[in-house]
Amino acid sequence: MSAASGAALPQQILLAATPDGWITAACERWRELLVDHLGCEKKAASTALALIFAYPEDVAMTLALSRLAREELRHFEQVQALMQELKVPFARAKPGRYAGGLRALSCTSEPQRKLDLLLTGALIEARSAERFAALAPRLPAPLDRFYAQLQRSEARHFELYLRLAVQAAQDSGLDWRERLALLASREAQLVTAPDEQFRFHSGPP
Ligand SMILES: [Fe+2]
Ligand SMILES: [Fe+2]
Repeated sequence: MSAASGAALPQQILLAATPDGWITAACERWRELLVDHLGCEKKAASTALALIFAYPEDVAMTLALSRLAREELRHFEQVQALMQELKVPFARAKPGRYAGGLRALSCTSEPQRKLDLLLTGALIEARSAERFAALAPRLPAPLDRFYAQLQRSEARHFELYLRLAVQAAQDSGLDWRERLALLASREAQLVTAPDEQFRFHSGPP
């Protein structure tokens, strides 16, 4: 696990690699994946907005997250355009277990809550970057280039969330490594254990 410099790679905070079973399924079921991915981008923007509302006094953080939210909405628009181009229809689906499973571990009292939410953001962005990196070389155009581009964005978002988490821990005298170890271990379980639902952040089917 790397330090607070922002030089950490997404893979360095993830405790398990995405299982081959998920990658194989994702290459076959890329249409389904795209529909879930659309929801992930929307959720990423809304999570950043929720943090802006929850911590308005943290001016540096709200500015950084406002930019991030705009970028996630841009991704949302790009996925939607790609779905139209590839003739993938929108379909409603129940959320998977991943985000809820991680959020269930978040402290409900401050200042721990802020740290947990930021670390959870870092883990989700890191996992997204890891999965886009795995998929980009395995999928045909135009998904290959698109996923390679998203991998770079989500890796940057991971760095931002980790930096914000380390800052929040320093401001309140909390041990971010200890919290990250707990959250990362749950995250690794959620993406490696067999999953009934197939989603962008699910376990292998
Ligand atoms: Fe995104
Ligand atoms: Fe992101």
